[in-house]
Amino acid sequence: MFERILITGCCGFIGSNLIRTLASKMISYEIVVLDSEVTGKASSLDGVPHHFIRGDIRDYRTVEDAMSGVDAVIHLAADTRVMDSIKNPTYNFDVNVIGTVNVLEAMRKHGIKRLVNASTGGAIVGDALQAVHESMPANPASPYGASKAAAEAYCSAYSKSYEMDITSLRFSNVYGPRSAHKGSVIATFIKSILSDEQCHVYGDGSQTRDYIFVQDLCFGIFQALKSEKKGTFQLGSGKPTSVNQIIQILKGVTGRNETLEVAYSDFRVGEVLHNFADITKAKRDLGFQPQTSLTTGIRETWDYFQKNSKVLLSNKEYGVSSYAG
Ligand SMILES: NC(=O)c1ccc[n+]([C@@H]2O[C@H](COP(=O)([O-])OP(=O)(O)OC[C@H]3O[C@@H](n4cnc5c(N)ncnc54)[C@H](O)[C@@H]3O)[C@@H](O)[C@H]2O)c1
Repeated sequence: MFERILITGCCGFIGSNLIRTLASKMISYEIVVLDSEVTGKASSLDGVPHHFIRGDIRDYRTVEDAMSGVDAVIHLAADTRVMDSIKNPTYNFDVNVIGTVNVLEAMRKHGIKRLVNASTGGAIVGDALQAVHESMPANPASPYGASKAAAEAYCSAYSKSYEMDITSLRFSNVYGPRSAHKGSVIATFIKSILSDEQCHVYGDGSQTRDYIFVQDLCFGIFQALKSEKKGTFQLGSGKPTSVNQIIQILKGVTGRNETLEVAYSDFRVGEVLHNFADITKAKRDLGFQPQTSLTTGIRETWDYFQKNSKVLLSNKEYGVSSYAG
């Protein structure tokens, strides 16, 4: 397969899980990490062999230097928070669109053909009562969704104009260990429970998402990397789950059936109400097959947070923030 793989944004939630999945699946290869540490931290990769470059994908020269000797790229670095993108759309554009074009352009200069680009299903397609599939038109409700749609469009353009092998993977809502810095639903609720605070739900809790356990997702990224298939693929569980159902599972997993408190407030602007993925194409073309039930995945996530709560607290990575939904 590949000998030297660059992973941008590898210090984050998905990257720090992915590098461990790759270590368990591949024998002889080198990983180069390019990350500004704006949200992820280099310490999240402790114990896994890699070459670390601290740098920003908004800086073209940095990206080009990081590509030296590389034969494939997994591009994860991004400004990932939907609500933050509404507050600061130009920063989101700079990181997610200009940063992605920098990655593509540096690959072109170095003659690197293979890119796996992290994209999103929910934020690009927006509200959908039917399962979302790859050929649905983009209808983003936030600058984050728009930036990911633009990044996908540039990936398609570079793929066709310069004969590059580019795959964009549209992740659904990912949850799992190593997500303490995230503002996503499950991580936020677990942080609230461990801090003895109420779980805060925006809306009535009927909004649905497609939740995929991070290890299942990382397996899908590995399958995509080694596949010769190009184009766009949805990676999710294929099932809608409401926020209220998540609360019920958390009550059972944490043993707080009676004591877990939930506060409801208004829906927020830019928030998608219903979205889940049709994963038929990824199953057929990439052999993608999520294995982990929601209850098992949430239990594993809860165990990780509980075991690491002291360290996370002392690192100040543990604050309760509003979730991206
Ligand atoms: N987590 C999810 O539920 C989810 C869903 C859909 C798509 N995605 C996509 O997956 C990718 C990884 O997301 P994540 O959840 O691991 O997020 P994360 O915030 O944990 O990780 C992102 C990483 O990128 C780095 N980064 C951010 N801006 C950078 C910059 N300008 N230069 C260099 N590095 C920079 C951060 O330091 C961090 O380590 C992103 O592209 C995100 O849009 C995630």
